[in-house]
Amino acid sequence: MNDILGDWKRTHYCGKLTSADIGSEVCLMGWVQRRRDHGGLIFIDLRDREGIAQLALDPDRDSTAHAKADKVRNEYVVAVKGVVSPRPEGTVNPNMATGEVEIEVSELKVLNTSKTPPFMLDEHVDVAENIRLKHRYLDLRRPILQRNMILRHRVTRTVRNYLDEQGFLEIETPVLTKSTPEGARDYLVPSRVNSGNFFALPQSPQLFKQLLMISGYDRYCQIVKCFRDEDLRADRQPEFTQIDCEMSFVDSDDVMSVMENMIARVFKESIGVEVDTPMARMTYAEAMDRFGVDNPDLRFDLELVNLSDIAAGCGFKVFKDAVANGGLVKGINAKECARFSRKDLDNLTDFVKIYGAKGLAWVKITADGWQSPIAKFFTPEELEQINQAMDAEVGDLLMFVADSATITNEALGRLRGHLGDILGFTDKNTFKFVWITDFPLLEWDEEAKRHTAVHHPFTAPRDEDIPLLDSDPGKVRAKAYDLVLNGSEIGGGSIRIHDQSVQSKMFSMLGIGTEEAREKFGFLLDALEYGAPPHGGLAFGLDRLVMILTGSDSIRDVIAFPKTQKATCLLSGAPGKVAEKQLQELSIRLRIKKNG
Ligand code: AMO
Ligand code: AMP
Repeated sequence: MNDILGDWKRTHYCGKLTSADIGSEVCLMGWVQRRRDHGGLIFIDLRDREGIAQLALDPDRDSTAHAKADKVRNEYVVAVKGVVSPRPEGTVNPNMATGEVEIEVSELKVLNTSKTPPFMLDEHVDVAENIRLKHRYLDLRRPILQRNMILRHRVTRTVRNYLDEQGFLEIETPVLTKSTPEGARDYLVPSRVNSGNFFALPQSPQLFKQLLMISGYDRYCQIVKCFRDEDLRADRQPEFTQIDCEMSFVDSDDVMSVMENMIARVFKESIGVEVDTPMARMTYAEAMDRFGVDNPDLRFDLELVNLSDIAAGCGFKVFKDAVANGGLVKGINAKECARFSRKDLDNLTDFVKIYGAKGLAWVKITADGWQSPIAKFFTPEELEQINQAMDAEVGDLLMFVADSATITNEALGRLRGHLGDILGFTDKNTFKFVWITDFPLLEWDEEAKRHTAVHHPFTAPRDEDIPLLDSDPGKVRAKAYDLVLNGSEIGGGSIRIHDQSVQSKMFSMLGIGTEEAREKFGFLLDALEYGAPPHGGLAFGLDRLVMILTGSDSIRDVIAFPKTQKATCLLSGAPGKVAEKQLQELSIRLRIKKNG
């Protein structure tokens, strides 16, 4: 039915009509959001991607159109012609962009019918997410998701314009490639032509963007899909998008400056928010000390206080032993939270246990002093020292963890974030940026009994720390930086190693032998011998950025066709089984794990 539209041409988007259009003849096409019958008069809310317009159908104006309108149901696709009119007095809807007008319909065509959708498509939909994901094409009609997708488009448009102005070239890098390690597992693709061999989908274009610098392209960018087979969380997807950049002849400050200005521009152009630049900076060491994590949420204080000195000599064995074993005792003062119930405190204790803490010691500061199960272990002087260190006042709740440095920091750092949420300090319209710098280059993997790269193996050590590579590798700081926004790592990057001998040394530090290094990264090692310029870059997680810009709680709300926490697509049914013939062509035989 090609001629269903006939000579009808849409003149406006529903959501774009305003009182300036009053008197205009318009033709609209969209989906029926709702139909109301007011004894004779029929009102239809017609929706397109820009919003909703109210149609008014009066049997006295056109009985045919009215009769057709009587039969339309939710999600029917409808075209109408009519005149834009002011809404009658008392019926103006200030909550709607088009709330001052309605269309007095003279003609109506039903372009298609629709089954009754499995859920309502209004703003306040409260259905299980798996039903929404299964019918994603309907879910995506919801105004909130449409706004998210439109905002995402605006972000990438701004990014491309900005990077173009700054001299970046957008260059595509391969998707069928070799492993590009970023710390996750690879997604593999079997090669039919080279049986027994596999491509890996890139975890990032890291190696290729470095090669482009060696090839002299000077400034590269790409808005690019990356693939990581890792445990999923609310802000992680197995395939996600990076705004990936690389620059030659730059130091860390140059990269951070170009990138923070890009982010400021994105905020201005997508949500109208002015962001101050230069953005705040904090070393990794300071972030760990004050906040216990390398992605601190700076919308609120609640800083961690190191009590190890006081704890070392105190009478509470748990505290004393932690320090004696080289660990840390830290505390956090939740102001005015002495009102927390026993149950609240039990919940917080369970919370820190998730991160390996053995318990959560607490103190309520009352007019009579410490109310706490551990008060008896401390001398009055020690109580006073702790009160002072923690700035304790009547009504406050002090909480402590004593453990290894790693567990104490993580448990209290996460507790801090959790308290920020429950105390209402995490306002979504406040944006606090901070660059975290001077990350350690290496961390010790106790299980594998070797060092791993904190960022990735191509990150350069700080020059003054290079001698420590042999004597005290854990102390070597990297030329690496992350941009953290409201407690979320939205981007990370580094200055790279451009000296082949340093890169080889780095591989050996990571326990990657010469042969393995050649096999995996020979092409990079070779290229580094042909005039590699000093270079560095960064990648932002586009999805995470848009999540924050739109105030979404889930990364899935800013991706058109996302995967579930179990890395499946409920809409298409991927991943799925393949035919035996396909497997044969690939020379693959399956070894299915038995359940349990
Ligand atoms: P990195 O691994 O830090 O760096 O990734 C950069 C940014 O990508 C986002 N991100 C993710 N977003 C959604 N789902 C995921 N699974 C996911 N993993 C990462 C984060 C992160 O900050 N090649 C380097 C960059 C560089 O050195 O230039 C890299 O990939 O927001
Ligand atoms: P206990 O002496 O084991 O009954 O513990 C007294 C209090 O200290 C309880 O509130 C525990 O939750 C808490 N606690 C136990 N171990 C630790 C620890 N490693 N760090 C902080 N608090 C702890």
